[in-house]
Amino acid sequence: MCGPYPAWDMAPMEANWTLHKLWEAPDRDVLINACAAQVRAIATRGELGANADLIGRLPALEVICCYGVGTDAIDLAAARARGIRVTNTPDVLTGDVADIAVGLALSVMRRIPAADAYVRSGAWAAKNMDLVSRLYGKRVGLVGFGRIGSTTARRLSGFDVQIGYFDQAARPDSPHRFFASLTELAQWCDLLIVTLAGGAATHGMVDAQVLRALGPEGWLVNVSRGSTVHEPALLQALEQRQIAGAGLDVFWNEPLIDTRFLALDNVVLQPHHASGTVETRRAMGQLVRDNLAAHFAGQPLLTPVV
Ligand code: 8YV
Repeated sequence: MCGPYPAWDMAPMEANWTLHKLWEAPDRDVLINACAAQVRAIATRGELGANADLIGRLPALEVICCYGVGTDAIDLAAARARGIRVTNTPDVLTGDVADIAVGLALSVMRRIPAADAYVRSGAWAAKNMDLVSRLYGKRVGLVGFGRIGSTTARRLSGFDVQIGYFDQAARPDSPHRFFASLTELAQWCDLLIVTLAGGAATHGMVDAQVLRALGPEGWLVNVSRGSTVHEPALLQALEQRQIAGAGLDVFWNEPLIDTRFLALDNVVLQPHHASGTVETRRAMGQLVRDNLAAHFAGQPLLTPVV
């Protein structure tokens, strides 16, 4: 295991399998060398992944199970080359991530955390809070229209917004407007919500040009991976008010994020917690265990990626 899971997962995992816990080892290399010949499975988390070095050092490795839908931190090519299977936890977290996309949009546009601080500080007694921006009725652009993007669109349909989306291709089953150009989507919308998968193909996709197109009245929400947004360009755009503000769950350097974010009053920040509800995390842990059990029983994997 590359990192801990909640106690409700650790107990059944300890009961079923012999766990070698990388995060508890005083020296990670010593532990890897000591258990390498026996390790048949890696249980990891989305943000911890499994790199080519780790995979290469485990000659008996058969399967990598990821607690998270994003497998961008797992070297899939290295796994594929050895016939090692990879699983993730799709679907069970989609609803929570879509919820927090809407929550971050409302939080930053209506300034809910700032309003809470305003009341607590007593400032209200002296003066009413400044006015904020509305979400309903706006144009929303979804960057990525897979499971999470399309569910976010469904959540937003109650807000009387117009929805457009950017993806590799138009979805014939979607009533929403497709944009083949991300810059054109950013130009069109008031709120851009990023739900892309991470990885090389989407690295820095939301760049300075896209942020310029979004403009000073435009808002950004990112619930995907920090890597999908060019972070220096984002920081500059926020500091110079080239965009109105951002609601961010993900960053380049988690958890030690760029401290420039902390000085901004036009951001709402979350600690990569979009799937972090008890209900979803229980389902994610169960799915990891079900995949491991299926693999060791010679049954088909439930949610294979590779
Ligand atoms: C988790 C995630 O935060 O699913 C993903 O890809 O980023 C998250 O749900 C993470 O994997 C949990 O450790």
